[in-house]
Amino acid sequence: MQYLIDDANLDKIKEVASYFPVEGVTTNPSIIAANGENVFERIKKIREIIGPDKYIHAQVLQNTCEGMLEDAKKLKAAAGENFYVKIPITKEGLKAMTALKKEGYNVTATAIFSVQQALISAKAGADFVAPYVNRLDNFTADGINVVAEIVSIFEEYGIDSQVIGASFKTTQQVHNAALVGAHAVTLNSDLFAQLITHPLTTKAIDEFEQKGSEFYK
Ligand code: E4P
Repeated sequence: MQYLIDDANLDKIKEVASYFPVEGVTTNPSIIAANGENVFERIKKIREIIGPDKYIHAQVLQNTCEGMLEDAKKLKAAAGENFYVKIPITKEGLKAMTALKKEGYNVTATAIFSVQQALISAKAGADFVAPYVNRLDNFTADGINVVAEIVSIFEEYGIDSQVIGASFKTTQQVHNAALVGAHAVTLNSDLFAQLITHPLTTKAIDEFEQKGSEFYK
């Protein structure tokens, strides 16, 4: 399963990428706005931090097909290789996904809340679909079940598109996404440290240090 950082804060990206084997970074317009810098400038800085081999998924803002193609071109120019353009699932978004695939872009369909939205986006050419787990959970709509059904319907029809679970708030949600076969997850920076932390690990390491200290000199 791929792990990506759902953030545009440069210090946080640097910190997480320094120890966690992440595959890249995802952003959306709200995340960019929270960091207060022009999106194209911020994407260039993120690329400098993570290097050329990691993935950047960055989202368009305009809501017409033509506008999305325009945004996609500028985002790709900023991000370079290993770039996925994130397109929300709408009528115009589907037109844009089809057009961008024809032009050779990698596409991530975003703001996915139902299995049909995922299936149709995949038919339009999306390489990844991004269901929003926690936002579904907040509607008592079982986000993980939506992820599981998308994974299984893609397998059923032999569809190559992959599922990138998004909008996580707890490590249990991340774990459940892994259990149902999500191909990737994108997580806010704070969840990474929580995923690798366990009080028994801390206790075990404390014991090693106390008992072994005299014998490692
Ligand atoms: C995914 O594409 C979105 O950027 C994101 O995961 C949404 O997360 P939120 O529900 O915490 O805003």
